[in-house]
Amino acid sequence: MLDPFAHDVLEDPAELHETLREAGPVVYLDRYDVYAMARYEHVYAALTNWQEFCSGAGVGLSNFRYEKPWRPPSLLLEADPPRHDAPRAVLSAILGPRALRRLREEWFADAEKLVDEVLGAREFDAVTALAQAFPLRVFPDTVGISREGRENLLPYGDHAFNAFGPANDLVEKGLPGIGEISAWVNAQCGRDALAPGGFGARIWAAADRGEITHEQAPLVVRSLLTAGVDTTVHGLAAVLYAMATNPVEWQRLRERPEVLARVAFDEAVRWESPVQTFFRTAMADMTIGDVTIPDGKKILMFLGAANRDPRRWADPDAFDLARDPSGHVGFGMGIHQCAGQHVARLEAAALLTALARRVERIELAGPPRRHHNNTLRAWASMPVSVSLA
Ligand code: HEM
Repeated sequence: MLDPFAHDVLEDPAELHETLREAGPVVYLDRYDVYAMARYEHVYAALTNWQEFCSGAGVGLSNFRYEKPWRPPSLLLEADPPRHDAPRAVLSAILGPRALRRLREEWFADAEKLVDEVLGAREFDAVTALAQAFPLRVFPDTVGISREGRENLLPYGDHAFNAFGPANDLVEKGLPGIGEISAWVNAQCGRDALAPGGFGARIWAAADRGEITHEQAPLVVRSLLTAGVDTTVHGLAAVLYAMATNPVEWQRLRERPEVLARVAFDEAVRWESPVQTFFRTAMADMTIGDVTIPDGKKILMFLGAANRDPRRWADPDAFDLARDPSGHVGFGMGIHQCAGQHVARLEAAALLTALARRVERIELAGPPRRHHNNTLRAWASMPVSVSLA
């Protein structure tokens, strides 16, 4: 019985992805009584058809039609139109490219400082020293949460992303602490907890203007704290891994970081797919190929497999800055496409630009180690050595 959430698959999902892609457009997974899609064409079609592939019954294995969610559902990720529309419009404005322009200089300067500090050593762990350190340095301040308790952010996100999968050991591991951690996260979402001018305060200001209700505001802030930290950590780790293992591409990037930092990050999001999977729920009986998905059944979309589907991508396993990675589904597609993608891209551009200026070569200095999560393709550690320019 195929188990996409087994540890050996989380360690290296390539074989399962190929098996599923080759088996057909839709594959029934009896272990979980769900329908899997792994080809780009069908994942894309499902992502852009919210009417038939809904999110309101949850985007994890748990079906909110029959089961109580572990926390109040997200007003964005786990909502369908029309309820999805207002919170989405508020976040899109706050996290859009125009609104982020004023952060650019500050984040680029922060990245320079961090890189200077880290390059005091020639060998370090790229996961903790850069991929975790940079988002934790800029993002919580930008949202406007308190300094105290920030160590809860990564475990909270890790548990939330595990909770989209089955109730396996990874979920169990998070359970003992999650009550306290959730209480801390929820406390950060209140109006009084948020610094003026930050993303959080701007969500409350949108509620004051009547764009969303005051009851909705804390849950929209919570979306930032759930979706905005672990994802970027593993996105940055992905691009650092790509650079440490593709020296020719690193040299290319160093020649034109102002153009290629952005390409490199999106290519890394395609190549590694830090968010590997999300579910939808069928809104009617649907026949795709020769498989009928009954109304109400869960559909598991393999973003990671779609992003390496040879039907869509030439030489899909290569990390290649010469390719145009746009159209990848690593940030999703359609109405739920990542509301924070510009934030993630800005963080990556800042960090890669600072590294490109100072680092001539970056290489693995030992075997990197994966962190297993039911949804995220993640790293626990990545020893690297650098030589300076
Ligand atoms: C949605 C991936 C960073 C906030 C999504 C979705 C994906 C994704 C695949 C679509 C979910 C679906 O269709 O069901 C990623 C990756 C990131 C990243 C790979 C980093 C490399 C961020 C950041 C934020 C954020 C930094 C916040 C600042 C959100 C929100 C949604 C979302 C709020 C829900 C949007 C909606 O349902 O309308 N993300 N994300 N993400 N992301 Fe991200």
